[in-house]
Amino acid sequence: MKDLLKNKKILIGITGSIAAYKVFEIIKLLKEAGAEVFPVMTEKATYFVTPLSIEISCGNRVLIDMFQEPLSHIELAKKCDLFLIAPATANLINKYACGIADDLLTTTLLAFRGPVIIAPAMNWRMYQAAQVQKSIDYLKSIGVEFIGPEQGSLACGEEGTGRLVRAEKIFEAVVSALTEKDLKGQHVLVTAGPTRGYLDVIRFITNRSSGKMGYALAKVAKRRGAKVTLISGPSNIEPPEVDKFFKVETTEEMLEKVMESINSATILLMAAAPIDFEPEKIFNTKIEKNSINSISLRLCPDILKEISKLKKKPFTIGFSAEAGLNTERAKIKFKEKALDMIVLNDIMKKNTGMESDTNEVIIIYKKRNKFFEENTSLLSKEEIASLILSKVKELMLEK
Ligand SMILES: Cc1cc2nc3c(=O)[nH]c(=O)nc-3n(C[C@H](O)[C@H](O)[C@H](O)COP(=O)(O)O)c2cc1C
Repeated sequence: MKDLLKNKKILIGITGSIAAYKVFEIIKLLKEAGAEVFPVMTEKATYFVTPLSIEISCGNRVLIDMFQEPLSHIELAKKCDLFLIAPATANLINKYACGIADDLLTTTLLAFRGPVIIAPAMNWRMYQAAQVQKSIDYLKSIGVEFIGPEQGSLACGEEGTGRLVRAEKIFEAVVSALTEKDLKGQHVLVTAGPTRGYLDVIRFITNRSSGKMGYALAKVAKRRGAKVTLISGPSNIEPPEVDKFFKVETTEEMLEKVMESINSATILLMAAAPIDFEPEKIFNTKIEKNSINSISLRLCPDILKEISKLKKKPFTIGFSAEAGLNTERAKIKFKEKALDMIVLNDIMKKNTGMESDTNEVIIIYKKRNKFFEENTSLLSKEEIASLILSKVKELMLEK
């Protein structure tokens, strides 16, 4: 999303860790999202990455020495919206916890009054040191956010907790810290991806749904402060960080999980594409090709229909993937399934619907007994998710 961090100024602090080279990927993501990035390095960081490369990738002058541009520590602290330290050494964490300000980075950190995110990277032995753990606990208690470190193989050849988390996760933490929490207090239940109907132990019926739209909705709802439960059919993409994540395979399993979580949900986004029909008989072996001529099918449960029978249900949004944008059919579905909103997208168009990273939809809802339709332009699925959630919030407030 190219405007996600538009007009945001991010201070990035780079310290003397072997993981410092990974900062280029983080800077790239921040800049692609429209942020202006101001780099500050420790003197030790310059052993690992060159100031020139940092300067070029940020597009802003890199500062290292406190006396390079006197008062830069105050100027930077005043003008920036967020301070990210990635990677953060044990040394930096301990110094920050004690309020030490003996170089430009620590001095600027002490002067900074906005949100601070620290992404540590170090050998697991250093990470486990009582001093480091105490500093982290203290910094968390005064509102500093930590992301990672992760468990995995470390640069020194050992295994353990100390790896810098992936650039995408650090980027998401930055975006989340700068996003208004307008969905705080909501429990958003999202379904995503396809389901499967097995024929035998290895063969099944499914569809081309990738889960991208549902995952985008879950990610954006979480970013905006909601508690998020994501129920997903098989998908190859990495799920976003949510409060609860359930993987299911069949439509029956999806229905069961939805019913388990629905009582506490305030918003239900049914972005999954569960299959409508499945083989009537499942063979518990691999069928030989000569032993079968035809497959009999039966209807799968209709999840939205089951939900429509509930006495108390959340604000419910259905998704309709149609060949062509037939709003009349979508409105019939809206009524039949007792929905509060339906999002229609055309699966026949290039760049929209299943598997695509982008989408163009029509949001249909009812106000004072009258249908309203809102067409979006071609946007990323995250942008579409944001528009849908804003509309949901608006309609819920009016209810
Ligand atoms: C090859 C090498 C790799 C290092 N990697 C790390 C690291 O990943 N994390 C860490 O906390 N310290 C690491 N250190 C130690 C720090 O560089 C050292 O504590 C330094 O004083 C940190 O200074 P700074 O926090 O001002 O950047 C490493 C040292 C060397 C020689």
